[in-house]
Amino acid sequence: MDGRRFAVTNPATGEEIADVADCSRDDAEAAIKAAHEALPAWRARSAADRGAILRTWHDLMIADEDRLARLITAEMGKPLTEAIGEVRYGAAYLKWFAEEAERIYGEIIPASAGNTKIFVSREPVGVCAAITPWNFPSAMLMRKVAPALAAGCTMLAKPAEDTPLSAIAAAKLALEAGVPPGVFSVLPCSQPAAVGAALTESDLVRKLSFTGSTQVGRRLLADCAPTVKRVSMELGGNAPFIIFDDADIDAALEGAMASKYRNAGQTCVCANRFYVHRAVHDQFCERFAKRVGALKVGDGASGGEVGPLINRAALDKVIRLLDDATRRGARILTGGAPIDDRFFEPTVIVDVPPGSAILEEEIFGPVAPVIPFDTEKEVIAAANATPFGLAAYCYTRDLGRAWRMSDALEYGMVGMNDGIISAVSAPFGGIKQSGMGREGSRHGIDDYLEMKYVRMGGLSA
Ligand code: SIN
Repeated sequence: MDGRRFAVTNPATGEEIADVADCSRDDAEAAIKAAHEALPAWRARSAADRGAILRTWHDLMIADEDRLARLITAEMGKPLTEAIGEVRYGAAYLKWFAEEAERIYGEIIPASAGNTKIFVSREPVGVCAAITPWNFPSAMLMRKVAPALAAGCTMLAKPAEDTPLSAIAAAKLALEAGVPPGVFSVLPCSQPAAVGAALTESDLVRKLSFTGSTQVGRRLLADCAPTVKRVSMELGGNAPFIIFDDADIDAALEGAMASKYRNAGQTCVCANRFYVHRAVHDQFCERFAKRVGALKVGDGASGGEVGPLINRAALDKVIRLLDDATRRGARILTGGAPIDDRFFEPTVIVDVPPGSAILEEEIFGPVAPVIPFDTEKEVIAAANATPFGLAAYCYTRDLGRAWRMSDALEYGMVGMNDGIISAVSAPFGGIKQSGMGREGSRHGIDDYLEMKYVRMGGLSA
């Protein structure tokens, strides 16, 4: 380390809250070497042993949840209650994959020839890299490191420049839990390109898992191509939230509030566009705007329900998308303006013309465009008319329609009569330009395992 450091600021106040080591390409290369050297001993440990260490790490996180939640709120701005939820959510991945470690089963396949047996085992991929986002600085890291370590891989994590503190706290707890040095390292840096290049170019790094925008994901995919790395990509979304006239409108309203305004609209599974059947459109919009207008905007550490946007660029994007929509004729029902150059008023807009950028780009802010529709066929076509395929939501009480919509929506995840779909036990991930691979669930560990087939001949006496 050459002693360089960079500042971390609280997006709600603009205050500098810490400064941290600024890793260079050389530091990243040294960490890759350490991860490579730590690999043989870690993968050789029993699954029960690795699982026990992950469980200890889980317990340490839960015991420290208040401090860890305050760190999340300080570095990225979400309300403290949401931050506590994030710490528990992240810790739950450690517990889940501690258990999955012991279920990495192989297979014996009937051989086509006598005198022969076919075995399949599943082995750790090797040294893995994680590039993690600022919107869930703790949970998105745990969702990657837990299955990696459970599988017997070692991992290097590069947290987002805006939010390195939760990742650094995670690395300290990992060591305390008994994760050996080199098995999990965090590389905070202010210039991600150099550290990113060290990770993607190294032949020792066999896998990259990334959560972030589709634009950056495409670049990373290209950067991983020369060394033919395994990749998991959890990329952008453009989630439709559909409400039919037969829906339970109270439940749809609750789901809409949770899906859209959690984390100030800064989750990749946030509802991005609301399609509401014309028969209930006006009634829904009136109630929605009233609820949204009552949300308390402010610092998540002092009771704000909708915190700041992460930085100026995020605020500018929301302003641009809203300006474009209103210039085309959209009407603002509530909200519509930035506050103190850090926050944005929770907003609902209607009469949004097709082709508006706000319906095509990921908003990543607390703005909800609502569009009326008339038929199931029409809304399916609109919902699927996007290159993204991460999450979709639908509210209906018609069982047949619920199944038809589940089948028709071209998304990796569908919330049917539910606005919150994230769960440790469920496979999280998208299709189309929203990425590849799945995190969480019993499938999440597969992204960190390779199959090896052994054909054993010459068995006859
Ligand atoms: C995200 O990646 O933005 C969503 C995180 C989650 O809800 O699991």
